[in-house]
Amino acid sequence: MELQNSKQLFRNALDRHYAIGAFNFVNMEVLKAILQAAEENKSPVIVQCSTGAIKYAGIKTLVAIVKSIVSDMTVPVCLNLDHGKTFEDCKNAVDAGFSNVMIDASSLNFEDNIALTKQVVEYAHSHNVTVEAELGVLAGIEEDVSANKSIYTDPIQAKEFVARTGVDSLAVAIGTSHGTHKFKGKAELAFDVLAEIEKQLPDLPLVLHGASSIPQEEVKLAEKYGAKLTGANGIPEDMLAKACKHNVCKINVDSDLKISYTAGLRKYLTENPDNVDIRKYSTAGMEEITKVVSHKISNVFCSKNMAN
Ligand code: G3H
Ligand code: 13P
Ligand code: ZN
Repeated sequence: MELQNSKQLFRNALDRHYAIGAFNFVNMEVLKAILQAAEENKSPVIVQCSTGAIKYAGIKTLVAIVKSIVSDMTVPVCLNLDHGKTFEDCKNAVDAGFSNVMIDASSLNFEDNIALTKQVVEYAHSHNVTVEAELGVLAGIEEDVSANKSIYTDPIQAKEFVARTGVDSLAVAIGTSHGTHKFKGKAELAFDVLAEIEKQLPDLPLVLHGASSIPQEEVKLAEKYGAKLTGANGIPEDMLAKACKHNVCKINVDSDLKISYTAGLRKYLTENPDNVDIRKYSTAGMEEITKVVSHKISNVFCSKNMAN
């Protein structure tokens, strides 16, 4: 198959009330592990690279390995730029062959966010590439993505934003956050805000960032073999499943893959101290990722068997 933009993928997800997992990757190993789970479960999938991943691996290399693997697959795959910050980030991704780009101008004021998003939409659409934007602020800290507190998306502003930018999907802030430590107290998402956004924008695909559930069995496995992840926690799976029944069509997951790969790798290296074969310990990490992604597709996002 060829790479797909998000249009038809999200149309199907909206109509059939499931969400598509959008999984971050930084190298061939993580990518293959994600795609294996999607193919085995006959699920559409989004794979995405941050600007940090692009800096690490090179944009041409990343696109080439995605296209090469996807050409032998039967399920729809979309390649997304995650958190593009500038017009150039997005243009470079479009020119390199990405099929969806996110322009994250959520740290700018409303008018500047609209102006930059509109510029990206015009360029991307003229190349048959769809665009995700963000309104509101997520809590949490990532290498290149940071915010001190969560400011929920304003539903009325969201309606105006979409009308003025022509964006294809919108990342909303309802209490999720990036990283491995999401809640100090009780986990809570603002489903009332989500419902209000849907009332204003009944047909718009919504996106949840910072949606790792931080599976405790993976945390425990990583910790058993030496990782230090005290207090790591994520979005409870029942909340994610509930979001999928709303208009949330794309759920971003990165931290869960980082933890599960690390867990598999640490276990293998500890149990096989004489091994120096890169393929063997990498495979152990990849198997752990495939397991986690399969579980999400089948039991949380409900995109299993939705490839057609
Ligand atoms: O949302 C951000 C992603 O988790 C990116 O992480 O910058 O470490 O690649 P990264
Ligand atoms: P997590 O840190 O919860 O995995 O979020 C990833 C993300 O939103 C990527 O854009
Ligand atoms: Zn994100």
